[in-house]
Amino acid sequence: MDATQLRDRAREVLAANDTGTIVTAAPRLYPHQWSWDAAFVAAGLSTVSVPRALAELAHLLEAQWDSGMIPHIVFADVEGYFPGADRWRTAGISPAGVRSSGICQPPVHATMLRRIVERATANGGEDARLAEEFARHTLPRWALWHEWLRRARAADGSGLVTTYHGWESGMDNSPRFDGPYARVHPGEVEPFVRTDTRIVQDASQRPSDDEYARYLWLVQQMADVAYDDERLPGAVDFQVKDVFASAALAAANEDLAVLAERLGHAGDPASDPGRLRDWAAEFREGVDATVDPETGLARDRDVLTGEWIAKPTIAGFAPLVSSTDTAVREAQLALLDGPAWAGDPRLAFALPPSTSPVSAEFRPREYWRGPVWPVMTWYLAQSVRGNGDEAAYTRWREASLDQLAEGHFGEYYEPFTGEPLGSPDQSWTAAVALEWLDD
Ligand code: SER
Repeated sequence: MDATQLRDRAREVLAANDTGTIVTAAPRLYPHQWSWDAAFVAAGLSTVSVPRALAELAHLLEAQWDSGMIPHIVFADVEGYFPGADRWRTAGISPAGVRSSGICQPPVHATMLRRIVERATANGGEDARLAEEFARHTLPRWALWHEWLRRARAADGSGLVTTYHGWESGMDNSPRFDGPYARVHPGEVEPFVRTDTRIVQDASQRPSDDEYARYLWLVQQMADVAYDDERLPGAVDFQVKDVFASAALAAANEDLAVLAERLGHAGDPASDPGRLRDWAAEFREGVDATVDPETGLARDRDVLTGEWIAKPTIAGFAPLVSSTDTAVREAQLALLDGPAWAGDPRLAFALPPSTSPVSAEFRPREYWRGPVWPVMTWYLAQSVRGNGDEAAYTRWREASLDQLAEGHFGEYYEPFTGEPLGSPDQSWTAAVALEWLDD
């Protein structure tokens, strides 16, 4: 497909996945609204319609819990996905009329909101007015979300967010979680039937049944304490400091501060830019402190054993999202473009795979264990560009558009063959195509 065909097809995909209320994350595999998907989708949608983009974020915000937590799934009134709303047991905890999961996902929302506002401002007129009004109105809600992450997940002052489930990282079965999951021993898990492997019929592209048993066990453990932030540390067998989510939070605090400043929120107790910048610094420093001097990659930490997790996954490049340390950033960029990552000559496109293709853990077809995720390429690219590295951005843009030109908007791609895997017509993949093409 050429650029015009690709843009038209990406718009068609988002329109087809639009239920009128949400853009589902994918047509059959993910028929609900996912938190970080919605943020990326909103960014892509804003190239088509700013009001529609804002409506996507507004819908997600309606599901925000009183605590400030934004759930990782907001369920639509359809069947076909497991675990569905009932399995989470969040009725009475989530807002009235909302059916949601009980865990969160990486906080990329304020970063995408800033993008949308800037695009709308450039458009001028009604787009500019609506986006500014939305941002002004919702700023305290996004600040509350960040405040909750800091209070409920990072009160130890480490500048690192604790996750209680691999799903919270968004990178479910990444090798980064193999150690922590090996220490999760499911007890009596309520019986379940997976739906994902009916839709993605090549089971090698999805997490295994053993992994799912652990996933469900953790959901049960959290539901048993009603997702009470105070009780989770004593109740859940999986607790990992997630370096990538922490970097996203650092960046998002900075982006929210920029919006707050622009909208005159200085001095506002909830969304004062100075307060948001302090949080940005806290998580930026937390992420920088995890960098392994041996490998140059940032590391997660297993809270329950106190051990660093030094797996060669894309999360190791978290400082590209958050760091202001030029030496760290330059070293990471060189590493990412080098032979252990996007520079591996066997790759169909010079793009970073989710796990290093020269590592023992690498599996080229299996979800977060190897495939290239276009949404990750774009998120990292817009981060490095924000820090002034136009050359890397341009390189990844060209390679990513070449990858997407096959036109299926795969959820993820086989790195050596370029085959689209997982769900076709994945909304966030279509969204990032629109973002690349809007340049
Ligand atoms: N990514 C998960 C899934 O595959 C849900 O968050 O279903």
